[in-house]
Amino acid sequence: MTQYIPNHVAIIMDGNGRWAKQRNQLRATGHRAGLKAVRKIVTHAAKRDIKVLTLYAFSSENWKRPANEVTALISLFIYALNREVKNLNKNNVRLNIIGDISKFNPNLQNLIIKAQHLTENNTGLILNIAANYGGRWDIVQSAKKIASHALDGKITLQDINEDYFGSVICMNDLPEVELVIRTGGEYRISNFLLWQCAYAELYFTDTLWPDFNQASFDEAINIFNTRERRFGDVLNEDLSC
Ligand code: FPP
Repeated sequence: MTQYIPNHVAIIMDGNGRWAKQRNQLRATGHRAGLKAVRKIVTHAAKRDIKVLTLYAFSSENWKRPANEVTALISLFIYALNREVKNLNKNNVRLNIIGDISKFNPNLQNLIIKAQHLTENNTGLILNIAANYGGRWDIVQSAKKIASHALDGKITLQDINEDYFGSVICMNDLPEVELVIRTGGEYRISNFLLWQCAYAELYFTDTLWPDFNQASFDEAINIFNTRERRFGDVLNEDLSC
């Protein structure tokens, strides 16, 4: 049977810390192992013809972690950008960072801008990395944009509707998120893509992110294919009851 391949898959990569703890290693080691899993899954998603892959790398709330862990995560992000961008570009991947990057140091901001610029015309997989991202932040920044359009007289109150809101939120130019995967055994969204996930299918697995591999990804797609997506409607066959 042919499978439906979701256009847009978003992943909450959880469990790096526990993976490291199980091995008596530092949490930073878990994050480094997490980066290896990122490499694997990006390659595999492109191979499976996923159009958009969005990864939650650093949430607005992750600043609350101990300073040494925040530093390790930011250093890893810088390392990944320095090391992987050429390769992503060679593989026709378009890289976007979503989130409030103004809070990062100028070196990282510069790397992000350069990486986005280098890959902007690529036509293969679109890879979004959510960094200093929060779903509530995203909704607030959209509301601010709309308010400024209204103050500038470009729109009136009547123009503000779901479509208008959807046209200013992060990733408004990309296909809808169809599948959200969360690794690491927790059952929550943790302030990820609150607006964009409205009708996404949610898939939770106990697998810790560094152990998540090509087969785990395929399993998530298989389960997605067993879901009945109704978008608030009813199926024709249910109308007879
Ligand atoms: C959650 O695990 C993971 C993160 C907060 C960071 C995710 C980062 C990576 C996968 C590596 C870097 C990726 C890029 C794109 C540079 P956790 O620390 O909350 O694990 P725990 O729940 O077991 O403590």
